[in-house]
This record gives sequence, C-alpha cells and structure tokens, in this order.
Amino acid sequence: MKGLLLLAVAGLAAAEDGLNAWLRYAPIQNAQAFQARLPTGLVALNTTSGSPVSTAARELTQGLGGIFGVRLAASAEPRGRNAVTVGTVAQFTDANPTVRIHIPELKEDGFHINVEGGSVRILGQNERGALYGAFHYLSLVAQGNVSDFSLTSNPQAPVRWVNQWDNTQDGGTHGSVERGYGGKSVFFWEGRIREDLTRAGQYARLLASIGINAVVVNNVNANATLLHPELMDSLARIANVFRPYGIQLGFSLNFAAPQLYGGLSTFDPLDKSVINFWQNVTDNLYARIPDMAGYLVKASSEGQPGPLTYNRTLADGANLFARTLQKYNGICVFRAFVYDHRNLNQTVDWKADRANAAVQFFNGLDNKFEPNVVVQIKYGPIDFQVREPVSPLFSHLRKTSTAVELQITQEYLGQQAHVVYLAPMWKELLDFDLRVDSKPSRLSDILNGSRFNTSISGYAGVVNVGMNTTWLGSHLAMSNLYAYGKFAWSAASDPKDILTEWIKLTFSDDADVLRVITEISMQSWPAYENYSGNLGIQTLADILLGHYGPNPGSQDGNPWGQWTRADADTIGMDRTVKNGTGNAGQYPSEIASMYENIETTPDNLLLWFHHVPYTQKLKSGKTVIQHFYDAHYNGSAVAQTFPKLWESLKGKIDKERYEHVLYRLVYQAGHSLVWRDSVNNFYLNKSSIPDEKGRVGNYKYRIEAESMDLKGYRVYNVHPFEAASGAKAIVTTSNSTQGTASTVLGVETGKYDLSVNYYDQVIGNSTWELFLDETMVGKWKGDQEYILGKAGSPYIDGQTATRITFKGVQVTKGSTLKIVGTPDGLEPAPVDYVSVLPEGVID
Ligand code: GCU
Repeated sequence: MKGLLLLAVAGLAAAEDGLNAWLRYAPIQNAQAFQARLPTGLVALNTTSGSPVSTAARELTQGLGGIFGVRLAASAEPRGRNAVTVGTVAQFTDANPTVRIHIPELKEDGFHINVEGGSVRILGQNERGALYGAFHYLSLVAQGNVSDFSLTSNPQAPVRWVNQWDNTQDGGTHGSVERGYGGKSVFFWEGRIREDLTRAGQYARLLASIGINAVVVNNVNANATLLHPELMDSLARIANVFRPYGIQLGFSLNFAAPQLYGGLSTFDPLDKSVINFWQNVTDNLYARIPDMAGYLVKASSEGQPGPLTYNRTLADGANLFARTLQKYNGICVFRAFVYDHRNLNQTVDWKADRANAAVQFFNGLDNKFEPNVVVQIKYGPIDFQVREPVSPLFSHLRKTSTAVELQITQEYLGQQAHVVYLAPMWKELLDFDLRVDSKPSRLSDILNGSRFNTSISGYAGVVNVGMNTTWLGSHLAMSNLYAYGKFAWSAASDPKDILTEWIKLTFSDDADVLRVITEISMQSWPAYENYSGNLGIQTLADILLGHYGPNPGSQDGNPWGQWTRADADTIGMDRTVKNGTGNAGQYPSEIASMYENIETTPDNLLLWFHHVPYTQKLKSGKTVIQHFYDAHYNGSAVAQTFPKLWESLKGKIDKERYEHVLYRLVYQAGHSLVWRDSVNNFYLNKSSIPDEKGRVGNYKYRIEAESMDLKGYRVYNVHPFEAASGAKAIVTTSNSTQGTASTVLGVETGKYDLSVNYYDQVIGNSTWELFLDETMVGKWKGDQEYILGKAGSPYIDGQTATRITFKGVQVTKGSTLKIVGTPDGLEPAPVDYVSVLPEGVID
C-alpha cells in the first residue's frame, strides 16, 4: 500500500515531456482499493510477435502494471478466469470450442469488452478491433472505472485516416512538415526515410489508441522521388513499424510523376504509357507493402499537376489510380481541394468565387468514379477557417464515397501557439443538416455512409506531428488529436466528455485540473473567433505569409480568393444567387434559401454570404462594425484569463508541462491583444466609424516607442500599418548599434504591470533590457522562434508582434523608464510600445 502511494505521488511530480500523451498509464489514487477486482493473468489469443493482439497484450501488461502496479502472469487457462483475455472473436471460439458467448454484432474493427470482477474479455471483430478494445479498457480503468460492465463498440465508418504533410527534405518554403508546428518529420530526413523509426512507432501507438487505421505519411504536395525503389523499400520499413498497431500506410502521389520521375513525355491519365507507369508503381509498392491502405491525391490544385492539364476530368484522374489499386483492395482518396489560384480576379469579376470551385469541378462526375474512390472534402468551401459553412459538395456527391478533411494542426487557428480546442467546431459541422431533397442529411450521416448508402466514407485528419516530444508543439493541443480520433469513431461523441476523458488521462482527475483545463479549452474556440475574424469573414490571418498573425488586408487583391471585399463602406462576400457569386445556390434548396436571405442567415456567417454596409444591424441589434470591435475586446479579454487560471494549478501538474503550457498561455494572451488591435484599427481606418465605447485607437496606458527619447534607435513605419500601435515602431539604427529609448513616467507612485510590445523576427535573437532609473526590471531575448514552433517571419508584422509583462513593479512618479535594445543578426531589436498598467488592468 505504502509503495503504491509513493508511486502515485511520484507519478504526479515527475517531469513529463508529453511523449506518452494520454497513454501514460499513471498510477491512480486508491489503486489498492481496486486490487480485488483486477485480473492477475493474461490470455493473449495470438502471441505472434508483431500481431496487433500481441501488441494489445503488451499494452495490457504495461497499462495495468503502471496504473495499479499489478503484474499480469501469462495464464495457461484459455477461458481466462481472473485473467484478461484478448483476441478476435474467432480466435476465442477456436480456443474455447465449448464455451458459448453472446456478442452483439461487430462491424469491421469493432470490439466487445466484458468485465466480471477480475475476468475480462476483450474480443475484436479482427485483430485491430482487439487492440482497440484493449486501449479502450485501459482508458476506462485509468479513469478509475473497474466496475463490471459489458460494452460493444463499432466504428461508424471504415476510413479513419490521418494525413501527414511531411516533406522528404527539410528547407524549401515549407520545411520538414508543411504547416507542422511540432518539429521535424518523424518519417523523413534529408530526402530519405529515417533510419530510426522509433517515433513513427510511438505515433502509431497513439493513433491506434484512438481508432485510427491509416496514415498517409507524405505531403499532399508530393515529391515524386519517393518512387525510387530504394525509397519504396524504406517506406516498407514505416509500414512494418505501423503494422503491430493495425495502422496501414497510405501514400500521396504526384500526378506528374510519369513525367517528372518516369521520363515519359506526358502524364495524361488516359495515356496508355501513363496507365502502365502507375500500375507498375502500385505493383511495386504492394510487393513491398501488401497491406498498403491506398493513395491520397492532390491534383489540379494550387499549382499541382492534375488531369485538368489535359482537359481530362477529375474522375479520369482519380480512376487512373483507383484501377491500379483494385486487385489489392486499396482505395484512392482524391481531394476535392481543387481550385485555380492563378486566374481568380476580384477586381474584374464580382461573381468570381473560390468557394464555388469544388462543386463546379465535380459537376456531372458523381456516377463516374470507380467504387474504390473516396473524395476527401475539406469541411468548408475555402480552407480550414475559424468559421465556414459545411462544404456544399457533400450534398452533390451521392453515389460517391466521401470523407471530411479536418485539420488538427492549427494552420489558421494559432498554430498551437494559441490554445484552440477544435472539437466544438467539428461537432457543429458534423451535426449540420444539409437537408438534401428536404430530408434529414446531417454531415455525420453522409460520412457514415447511411444517408447515401456509400460504403467507404469517413474521416481524414491533417495532424502534422513532429519530433518534438509534445508531438504537436503544445501539450494542450493534443486534445484535438484525441478528439479527432473519437469523432472519426463516432460523431455522436460529445466535445466536453471527450475533453474530460483526455484531461484525466493526460494530466489527472484532480477536480481543479479538470475544471481549469475544461474552462480554458471550452472557451478557446469562441475566444479565438472573437479576436480573429468574426461573422464569417474568415480568420483574417496573413494569407500570404505564414497564415498566422493578423493581416486583414492580405485577404484581398490577390488570386488566392479568400476575399473579404472590404472597402470604405461595405464588407463581405456576396454569395447570393440574386446578386452575387451564386454560391448559396450550390446548397440544397432549404439551405440555399436560408443563406440567400440575409434575414435567415445566421450572424456568424453573415459576411460569408452577404456584402453589407458596416452599419448593417445584426440580429443582436449591434452594427457589424461595433460587433467587430466588441468581439475583439471580449475574445482577447477571455485569453487574458488563461494564464491566471493555469497558474492556479501550480503543484498539481508536473513542472515541465506546467511551465511549457504557461509560457504559451502568456504568449497567447499577449498576441490576442495584437490581434484585437490590428483588426480593430484596420477596420476603423477603412470605415472611419469610431468605436462607440471609445477604445479603438485610444490607449491611455501606452507610451509609444516612437515618442520616447531615442539614441541608436530610429522610427520605423510598419507594414501593414495596423501591426503597430500608432503604425510605427522603433528599430536600431544599424545591426551593430545598441539602441536606447527612454521616457519620464508621469504616473503616480505605486505598483504597475509593465508590458512591452516588441517584435521577435526569425532573422536574429536581439536582447532587450528594461530599466526603471538605473534598476533593471528585466532582460529578455528574441528567441521565440525556437520555443513556439509557429511559422516564423522575417518581418516586423502581426506574426512577429509579441508582448512581455513584468508584474507588480514598484514605480516612482518621475522615474525614467528605459529600454536598451541590442540587435542580433538582422533583427534590429524592434519595439512598438510600453504599457504602464495599474494592477489588474490589461490593455
Ligand atoms: C492550404 C495550405 C497548404 C496546403 C493546402 C492543401 O492551402 O496552406 O499548405 O498544401 O491547403 O490542403 O492542399
């Protein structure tokens, strides 16, 4: 007993790096009390090394050992009294021909668990199901549930895939993992497959524990060189590491590989030599990886080659691969993210609309796909924005299997440097009823195959983990991966329940820990939407650089088509049929008329579907512009509460994770103010309509750096202007000159929080020192690029703007505040402003 208690305490205090995520098998409180109800033996119905059942056995041993300190002994008794028995239903029946068990119907990958005291039976429809069952059982007991129960669980859909956008090489425009913020690829390094695939195996373990059955290992912007026989051999090594976890390998193809790699003069999908080329590739891959899941294809999109190059249809493109896969039971997942980013012209064409592209390109193709094609559709018509309507394409493809593409990596949603728990957003999307033919048509029912009787539909999640031990770069972001698996298994899952489970497994079941992480997570998506883009205008992140910080102006005037059409008086995309791009008309009639009509369009999608004056009244009674202002203040105010909430958990979470999360929450709180002020000032400037509450543009606690006494610093005009308070910052006069900026403080003597807004670019690691008279208040370095993992920027802009706060500093009236900036590399120690804040005030 004493030993166990010690173990429990040690489990909490020991530093944790996140590698085991929710599979920590940490000792639970009162473990001793459960001893009598725990199995003591283990019956693995397949002991072949590398089989998912033997993996399940290993997990059970490790799990029950870690959680309760029990040592499971291999049991010779096939019925497994007082033992945990794991295997497939068929294996169990073979081993126990005279035993009759009643198990409800199991679908592929489904499982049944029966617990009666210490006798536990975990049986899968197949070996993968048995492994899923073992993980499920361990998850329950790790949460303290050891009572008798019997449950059956079947996945709603066969496609539960993960996409990794991993490049074979680091460098280039997108680094090792495109839109990945958790470090380098766990699969590839320097053009080859990593020798050491330990992390790939650990990733497979995590994914299997949440029911994922395939991982596409390479970027959709695919590199054709992976077709080299030696690299194919190495790909097989990844598949070998996956196999014990029931994970199949999927592979992204470059449509032009016949030409780029094969030396053919064409990649026309109907050309005989091209067809032979691809059959040969498929045969070669399956010779090495007989259980390969199939292909993922991005074609005719964002400069990627595709069938449209030869005036062939997308179905011609998809079928080319699908046919080569049929004899292997492989599937071809073909992405619907097809649009022309070169010729969309906002200025000349009011009706031009990227959101229309997918339905237009797939028009007339619904009955043209081979049965083993799945069309993978991003949840919204544009690109993983904070708020989008469900893509209308889901209502057009009725004879074709479809999968929804969700993004776990937070490309547009804070890149894991902001906490944004995405499950509530996914839930809204999955529950959305498209009313196809005026019949109930929830997205989730399209994806589980029931609405249109499709057979291989499902879910694809772009995850983009990396070598960082936190996987995604942030501990709290891992709830999104966990939730993704749960939704892919069952869309009926509840975001809050998932979160509770995840917190218990990842941190602890302490009531405060549960309350705080739940509060932060559940508020995070609405907060992020509030301080980024509101009313369906999209996220407003810089779409030309990094997709991270605010840059509302970057949306318009380019062919990427993520337009807001904001001018001096009006804002929003007119997607109506009567006057706009016609996008509303791509939806089934009931939904089309809801979006066509401004009265019935929900406020949160108003600017997605309508072009209106800033003075347009919302259903809330506010004008659009005032809603913008208020939402930005409200959202960023919520983010300010996160660090404090987290600090209340000090001592309840191991130091390593506590500090890691705190750093990010403090950063997020500061950056949410950058968002607030950038977006608000941008629209104040555009519309010339002041904030009714007088906040926007008036910052009474601020001292602008450009108004201080400068030595070795000069004033710098920031672009875009709204990324700096007062449109200006200061930079050192050369990259070897130390700069000082000083000012005499007029505030009354007392305690203040001193916040310095500065810019941390990727082109150097400047140092800043803050003094009050001759006393140093603090010193810091511009090294966030090594800590945060988000997209870096070489510019002084909304991506690099950041804040540091020194709390409770004693200030004497008339003292001199001085910032000393030492540039490094090309980074000129830039500073925007200093806020001298009475305690408790944030601005
Ligand atoms: C986004 C993303 C790209 C990605 C593309 C895709 O546009 O920024 O990096 O390649 O989506 O999904 O194909």
